[in-house]
Amino acid sequence: MSAMFWKAIAVLLIAILAWSYQALCPPTPRLCGSTGGPSVEGPRIRLRDGRHLAYMEHGVSKVTANYKIILVHGFGSNKNEAHFARSALVEKLGIHLVSFDRPGYGESDPDPKRTMESIALDIEELGDKLELGPKFYIIGTSMGGQVVWGCLKYIPHRLAGVAMIAPVVNFWWPGFPAKLATEAYYEQFPQDQWALRVAHYAPSLVYWWNTQKWFPPSSVAAGRPNFTAPDLQVLAKLSASMVNRHYSTQQGLFESLHRDMMIGFGSWGFDPMDLDNPFLDREGSVHLWQGDNDGLVPVTLQRYIAKKLPWIQYHEMPNAGHLFPHGDTTATDAILNALLVGDK
Ligand SMILES: *[C@@H]1O[C@H](CO)[C@@H](O)[C@H](O)[C@H]1NC(C)=O
Repeated sequence: MSAMFWKAIAVLLIAILAWSYQALCPPTPRLCGSTGGPSVEGPRIRLRDGRHLAYMEHGVSKVTANYKIILVHGFGSNKNEAHFARSALVEKLGIHLVSFDRPGYGESDPDPKRTMESIALDIEELGDKLELGPKFYIIGTSMGGQVVWGCLKYIPHRLAGVAMIAPVVNFWWPGFPAKLATEAYYEQFPQDQWALRVAHYAPSLVYWWNTQKWFPPSSVAAGRPNFTAPDLQVLAKLSASMVNRHYSTQQGLFESLHRDMMIGFGSWGFDPMDLDNPFLDREGSVHLWQGDNDGLVPVTLQRYIAKKLPWIQYHEMPNAGHLFPHGDTTATDAILNALLVGDK
């Protein structure tokens, strides 16, 4: 009897372990172009390690362009997020734009070894393979703005100028005074505090955390972030042309959304607040745009970064939320103007 009992307990334990192991392990991504996976519809380049990066070209021909810009999309988005291409300045100034699916998104192969440096090198290679010249501009939005910090760190010599639009901050950057970062952290929804804790302290649990049903998941991953009144106005206008989330994550959630959380809120090899001005010769400029009513990225932390890095041109937009550049082309025009024409 007792032997039976212990056998039953052992079987139960093994079943629980097997189940939890399965719940922890993300499924293998459905690679684009593989059998049963999504098909490859657009052009891609082959990177140094054999991965493919899908891209899309916009604006005037790169042969005649005066300015070449690489766009970096945000969380859950993809290369179709290229609202800068709709600005009238594209024709007027002669701008060629390239957007791309970040690794694991859309039709770009996942990069399980992704780091802040590897994505910067991907962008450098994209510029080289598409022959954008020795220097090009980069504009990154939201989590794509974080990628721009990596470009400033790892490929500063390739930059003609950069703009970060409401770049997501990492509360663990050591340069923040603890009190300021903690205050901003606790302003978030409790489920977001938990999602970020898991991403930062227990990345191997990120897949499970974001797919389990016991606790509420990250509001951003669930598509219900803290949008403020100005964001809701933008969304009401946009609804028809909203980002195609299905395309973004068609290879699986793990190598797209979850990997983004692990990298974005993980331990970086550097602190943006320690960076030096890459444009000492004033041959280019660095811009940071932030709405003062952004419910996703705390304006208090962005102000602190701007104060610490006086070489950044900080543009704080009054009554603007996280989505301000999507509303109409006023903001995108201002961003392009400041970046490309500036006070030259
Ligand atoms: C939502 O955003 C507003 C505006 O930035 C902020 O004051 C508030 O604390 C945010 N709430 C949450 C739960 O993030």
